[in-house]
Amino acid sequence: MFGGQPPLWKFMDSIRSEGLQQGEEALSCPEEGLPRPSDSSELVQDCLQQFKVTVAQLQQIQASLLGSMEQALRGQASPVPAVRMLPTYVGSTPHGTEQGDFVVLELGATGASLRVLWVTLTGIEGHRVEPRSQEFVIPQDVMLGTGQQLFDFAAHCLSEFLDAQPVSKQGLQLGFSFSFPCHQTGLDRSTLISWTKGFRCSGVEGQDVVQLLRDAIQRQGAYNIDVVAVVNDTVGTMMGCELGARPCEVGLVVDTGTNVCYMEEARDVAVLDEDRGRVCVSVEWGSFSDDGALGPVLTTFDHTLDHESLNPGAQRFEKMIGGLYLGELVRLVLAHLTRRGVLFRGCPSPALLSQGSVLLEHVAEMEDPSAGAARVHAILQDLGLSPEASDVELVQRVCAAVCTRAAQLCAAALAAVLSRLQHSREQQTLQVAVATGGRVCERHPRFCSILQGTVMLLAPECDVSFIPSADGGGRGVAMVTAVAARLAAHRRLLEETLAPFRLNHDQLAAVQAQMREAMAKGLRGEASSLRMLPTYVRATPDGSERGDFLALDLGGTNFRVLLVRVTTCVQITSQIYSIPESVAQGSGQQLFDHIVDCIVDFQQKQGLSGQSLPLGFTFSFPCKQLGLDQGILLNWTKGFNASDCEGQDVVSLLREAITRRQAVELNVVAIVNDTVGTMMSCGYEDPRCEIGLIVGTGTNACYMEELRNVAGVPGDSGHMCINMEWGAFGDDGSLDTLSTCFDASVDQASINPGKQRFEKMISGMYLGEIVRHILLHLTSLGVLFRGQQTQRLQTRDIFKTKFLSEIESDSLALRQVRAILEDLGLPLTSDDTLMVLEVCQAVSQRAAQLCGAGVAAVAEKIRENRGLEELAVSVGVDGTLYKLHPHFSSLVAATVRELAPRCAVTFLQSEDGSGKGAALVTAVACRLAQSTRV
Ligand code: BG6
Ligand code: GLC
Ligand code: GLC
Repeated sequence: MFGGQPPLWKFMDSIRSEGLQQGEEALSCPEEGLPRPSDSSELVQDCLQQFKVTVAQLQQIQASLLGSMEQALRGQASPVPAVRMLPTYVGSTPHGTEQGDFVVLELGATGASLRVLWVTLTGIEGHRVEPRSQEFVIPQDVMLGTGQQLFDFAAHCLSEFLDAQPVSKQGLQLGFSFSFPCHQTGLDRSTLISWTKGFRCSGVEGQDVVQLLRDAIQRQGAYNIDVVAVVNDTVGTMMGCELGARPCEVGLVVDTGTNVCYMEEARDVAVLDEDRGRVCVSVEWGSFSDDGALGPVLTTFDHTLDHESLNPGAQRFEKMIGGLYLGELVRLVLAHLTRRGVLFRGCPSPALLSQGSVLLEHVAEMEDPSAGAARVHAILQDLGLSPEASDVELVQRVCAAVCTRAAQLCAAALAAVLSRLQHSREQQTLQVAVATGGRVCERHPRFCSILQGTVMLLAPECDVSFIPSADGGGRGVAMVTAVAARLAAHRRLLEETLAPFRLNHDQLAAVQAQMREAMAKGLRGEASSLRMLPTYVRATPDGSERGDFLALDLGGTNFRVLLVRVTTCVQITSQIYSIPESVAQGSGQQLFDHIVDCIVDFQQKQGLSGQSLPLGFTFSFPCKQLGLDQGILLNWTKGFNASDCEGQDVVSLLREAITRRQAVELNVVAIVNDTVGTMMSCGYEDPRCEIGLIVGTGTNACYMEELRNVAGVPGDSGHMCINMEWGAFGDDGSLDTLSTCFDASVDQASINPGKQRFEKMISGMYLGEIVRHILLHLTSLGVLFRGQQTQRLQTRDIFKTKFLSEIESDSLALRQVRAILEDLGLPLTSDDTLMVLEVCQAVSQRAAQLCGAGVAAVAEKIRENRGLEELAVSVGVDGTLYKLHPHFSSLVAATVRELAPRCAVTFLQSEDGSGKGAALVTAVACRLAQSTRV
């Protein structure tokens, strides 16, 4: 029935001589002193009674195993959990769309044999191609030899099998079913913890078995095989299960050994540090040996069996259930009853007294009611015994007792797993399918029915269907391999896509150098993408400024009107007003009328009506200034496009609007860029603040330049703040080598194509769009969202830059990330979530590094201007991207340290916005005006 299986115990005999001696010593047949019939029935009773397990005991095992499982899941180290709960890196059950040809190598599931399969997955539900397979018997000396011998043998079997198949020698993908307890650290990385089930090859425990197999295949040299995935047999069993009405989320194997795997919530698996989705966990329940729970059901035969096994004290639960042990338990009972004269008239045979002589196949056959007495008789005779009719009947009862207990114990353990599932899913009634595999499940006549009946008794709230695995789990292994191969291919495509975003030191140093060159040209008034606009701000505040000022702040996320009171400290009252897109992109007159309306409203609310306070206007767009209160708008940026403003003096436009709205009097003193306002605002606290940086909707920087370097402004001494308008850096094509096709798409779709190229790679208005374009591309490659393009993702600006900040936040669990993405209507799998996160990281990292290269260029310029060996300088920073993104600021700082090592650059975040700075510029101007009047 189970032909071709050398009994594992046989060669244990050769290493355990006591077994033989025991046998020889007891061989004589007692003529006298046989028990009387009544005694003998008591003896039988006593003996079989030991294998009876009560429902209470089963419930105790169920509860105790559940406790151990939960303890192991929590990662509790002490007391050492009785089961291992090993995560397998299989994160989802099959979709049914997996396809391709795969080689599967199975080692360890079925005794001393190894199986190679050729599995074809069609990707079409219900359409199966029968796998081709070949079984190889592992020679005894290999099973107990060196690891290299074992893996060389496996590689040899692979070649022999493949030689007979019409396949190419190249590019084969292999799934490795390795059924021993392993610590997996990836789909293709798995370290053997300890051998079980009669294997004991040296030099393998503690090693990555995938690597050992790869090395052996390479030594063999015949085939180019990529070992893509490694799985436990239980996982193969679960994954190969036909897609049915309910999810198959448990894989049970009872073969030489026994074990189960199931889909656990990843957040409950402490070692994974993962909070999304589910992961398949191999329970390794064979090692369950809780004394409290198992003690009462352990028989003297279990103790003897354990004592004489290759691994005494280990795998105690497996030794009561696994096929490797059932025959041996039966043999021990029969030998005992024979010795006591109850069986075979007290005459044992040498075979009966030798370890491993009774095999699982014997037990299964003898217990099978349809086998008939003659068959049992024949098996016993083969063991050298002379059975009478009563012997035959008693032997059948012994087989039934041993197997019934095995099935009941297995059921108690399975009930524990089902309780766990039910608990973690928080479901009243759990509906689940259990895939079953292994020879005991498949071929033992009563095992499955007892198992199922007992599970119903112990877990009545679970609605379980049992589905036998069709081909020993080979298909499931191929499924995992297909998924692993697909994930590996997707990862390669993801890496290729993101590679242009990963800038190295040389590329960043080149950006810094180009920026320096463009700055110099711009300052000289030569053609350059950096305009280097003089701002007429000549000094940072000195603390002597005083008075009440109004300020406007236009051009960032919010439009604000502020009242700034400068005494020994600065007090700010402000209000945010919205600028509807229709106004930002309507006529200039509308825009400035709207601004004045907001000021009037603010004045009324603050009780300032009728007062003509000096006003500082933060206007965050490129302006050519001819003085502090004169700024000609060069061009709109960042989504503003009001007509009839470009080429006009913005202060005049504001004054005209004030005149139109006759009720109000305002004294516009200064117009400042937001970078300047920010620098001044931070400069009030720190006199070393000589750089202003904005990374928000747009990006830009300003800094204090030597006046002698500024063409077009008279004077050779002192400083002047220069608004770099670095957002336009690269508009002359100098950044083209760094620009990706995604940048090009974002630029093309913007309202100012070809303009603000640096800004479009860095600032908040564009990063979300870059991410969206990458996601579209990855979807078209089938890497994301199962290749399904969604309408939502086609929508412009749907992916806000604030999502990048949220998604990349360390404090956010991946499941929350998924929720954000699901809110966008994206059909995510858990693999997708991680990929989207990686895309966001690549895009924001490049942005931060480019920004850092810019700051490094500015700091170096200041250092060189002043002829200093070392420069200590502060940068005042504002902008939602810089402030809200969890890693942006530290990446900028790291890049500056790398590219400008001689500058100690400190970053100060502006807390009050640039309005305070605009007020301070106004205050200085008023002070100067007063002093000239005096
Ligand atoms: C604000 C400043 O805090 O930051 C504005 O007050 C500036 O002047 C803005 O424009 C930049 O950030 P964002 O993200 O609002 O564009
Ligand atoms: C043993 C192994 C386990 C395997 C089981 C069934 O218990 O340790 O990994 O799943 O046997 O083959
Ligand atoms: C844009 C504007 C610039 C401003 C920056 C930050 O680049 O052109 O003036 O400083 O955005 O808001």
